[in-house]
Amino acid sequence: MSEPVSPRLKPYRVDLVDGERYSWCACGLSKAQPFCDGSHRDSFFKPLQFHASTTGPAVLCGCKQSNTAPHCDGSHNNLSEAYEEDERSVAELLSLTSESLFNEQGRAQLDGGCYVQRPEGLQWHLMGGLEVAPVITSVDGAIHLSQYAARLTSKQTEHLSCGMGAMVMYVDKGTVTLHLEGAELPLTERTGVYIKPGESFSLEGSGEEAAHCLFCICPGSFSLQTAEVSNSGGVDELSKRVVAYNPVLVEAMADRFYQVLVGEAVGSNDISQFIGQIPQSKAVPHRHLYEETILILSGQGMLWTENYRAAVAPGDFVFLPAQQEHSLQCHSEAGMELVGHFYPAGSPTINY
Ligand code: FES
Repeated sequence: MSEPVSPRLKPYRVDLVDGERYSWCACGLSKAQPFCDGSHRDSFFKPLQFHASTTGPAVLCGCKQSNTAPHCDGSHNNLSEAYEEDERSVAELLSLTSESLFNEQGRAQLDGGCYVQRPEGLQWHLMGGLEVAPVITSVDGAIHLSQYAARLTSKQTEHLSCGMGAMVMYVDKGTVTLHLEGAELPLTERTGVYIKPGESFSLEGSGEEAAHCLFCICPGSFSLQTAEVSNSGGVDELSKRVVAYNPVLVEAMADRFYQVLVGEAVGSNDISQFIGQIPQSKAVPHRHLYEETILILSGQGMLWTENYRAAVAPGDFVFLPAQQEHSLQCHSEAGMELVGHFYPAGSPTINY
């Protein structure tokens, strides 16, 4: 036996205790997955011993192909050609769930605090020359993140900041110039930027059509506000924090694709931002350890949780609490595109 056996093609969600020592099965033969039960004794495999660094849930590799073992790194997604599909019939799915209708505020509530928010229901207000609408805040059940939609209609905003919160910005429509730490950074559509705690910025519009942006903040208790100018002069390092969508850099996850724009690679250790592409399909219901916000960029579909379903369309926002079971279905032949933000930062491929 030179290759490990894959007891299953997805990870195991376990609860670990800070400082405790665990023995992860590397051979795949254990009957006590994902932990070792001694079954490796006639092979050259040895279990991987590790100490938990926090108390709480963890997602340990079950396919035995992870490069970050004992933790899942999403490698299981590429062990088959297609992302795991929900095999239940439409009739069965419809009988198990009720359609959640949109209320007057444009919100459809699903299980566990998950919801879909239509853009028509957002409450806009003016802040320092920027039109801002909260999309996801602690009032909506978010624990770690808050998210604001923004429209830039005036030529130049005042300086804005979220205090000591970390912020990730996304340009959805139009072009803007970001004035940050003494630098001028031109931003085009489908570009993300990491703005560090304590930094303030202003935005300059092109003077043509209104630019549409998203701001995701962590912790979510901080909110966007007008601020004094900050200037640390770190211009060189700033350009690395601006990341545009680039089809060449897109990574495969079975028959799905994604590009992490802002994440740990550019210093954003709390929030990851990615663009995802989903083919016409319905993924098997799954969960993530992270809290997530999604903006649908293109394509029609349905979001399913255990007992409810809600239609989704371009411009809709989705809030997914950590560990909430869900499945995003794409009805469009051309597929669906979305931009996601999640806490804690990491890979969008890790699901269970
Ligand atoms: S289960 Fe092995 S990498 Fe995810």
